[in-house]
Amino acid sequence: MLKRYFRKVSQANKPQQTHLLKDIYHQWVAEQRIQFDTTQLEILEHLQITLDQLNTKKPVPKQQSLYLYGDVGRGKSMLMQLFYEACSSPQKKRFHYSQFMSELHAYAHASAQLNKTEIITAYANQLNSELQLLFIDEFYVTDIADAMLLERLFTRLFELNITIVMTSNRHPNDLYQGGIQKAQFAKFTDLLQHNAKILTLNSDKDYRLSYLKSAQQVFYSPLDAGADEFIRHSYHQLTDDAPLKPHSIKSLGRTIALTAAYQDIVLTDFNELCEQPLGSYDYIEMTKQFKVVIMANIPKLSYEKRNQAKRFMTLIDALYEHNVKLICSAETPVEDLYVDGDGVFEFKRTVSRLIEMQAQNYLDSGHN
Ligand SMILES: Nc1ncnc2c1ncn2[C@@H]1O[C@H](COP(=O)(O)OP(=O)(O)OP(=O)(O)O)[C@@H](O)[C@H]1O
Ligand SMILES: [Mg+2]
Repeated sequence: MLKRYFRKVSQANKPQQTHLLKDIYHQWVAEQRIQFDTTQLEILEHLQITLDQLNTKKPVPKQQSLYLYGDVGRGKSMLMQLFYEACSSPQKKRFHYSQFMSELHAYAHASAQLNKTEIITAYANQLNSELQLLFIDEFYVTDIADAMLLERLFTRLFELNITIVMTSNRHPNDLYQGGIQKAQFAKFTDLLQHNAKILTLNSDKDYRLSYLKSAQQVFYSPLDAGADEFIRHSYHQLTDDAPLKPHSIKSLGRTIALTAAYQDIVLTDFNELCEQPLGSYDYIEMTKQFKVVIMANIPKLSYEKRNQAKRFMTLIDALYEHNVKLICSAETPVEDLYVDGDGVFEFKRTVSRLIEMQAQNYLDSGHN
């Protein structure tokens, strides 16, 4: 079905606006894959304009980039993914924000012999040789150094006429909550607002919550004797009683120690994954190797544990992105895990995802 739509557009090669995205959306509604939502449909009209620019063979002098923001679970990533798949050019790439930043940092690190401007120019040229469309999902830059780096890079990418599409939980002006170097950060947000159309999706429904009806328990709290039993039982059930033998994986030359693993099922705990200086790259490496992560002993997080909270957030993003199933035990219910400390706003997405990850719909989905 979708293929037929996509073919129709790539053959047409017409600059005028088509209705491809809306057609697919209506199709999904008809198939009861999704519920009809006018606010989502309105967003598709804007996405369609950029899509038509991309799908036309005639180059457009200034491509329309997009920045879509709104509350958690509203369907931003779903709509942007629909747009992304409908783009007929093979020169496209989708990143999760933390993955994009970790690749950028890795590139800068490997080119330390160059100065900052040269690094950015070289990286932008590399992206330009590969991409026409860059999709960065869950944009949440909060760090002034990252904002300055992105300001240089995006300036160059916009000059090169690369289309950048982003989703975020915040308007660009609200990205930065810190006090220092506000003016520096503003340079970046101004750049975004000059070069990207800022769209907001304010549907009143969190679709993730509606998946709540889960048959099988995958999240256990509090951390009582039952929690240990739950974790051990889950591991034994899934692995046919495989022995609990320590396991480790390699990532960027580092070794990550894990409690036990059997085929694509891993048993670990909060200490192993979030008390160590691990990052997005390591977590993504784990998602490549495991389909199920059983994680014991997630503590209630607080201001003192803000770094661990940030890592936990990155971990959950990576697991969710790759449809890895999570079975875990925690000190408190999901909603109370982290309510006081840096990044509690961003943590709302983690809470929403943890809820969705308990739902049958998520548990039924294939590993990504
Ligand atoms: N109209 C809809 N009907 C049914 N399910 C929907 C609808 N829109 C989105 N969903 C589903 O709700 C879930 C959350 O959507 P999505 O991940 O796109 O939200 P989001 O706005 O990107 O959230 P976040 O800000 O947390 O990243 C997904 O599983 C998605 O498929
Ligand atoms: Mg999203």
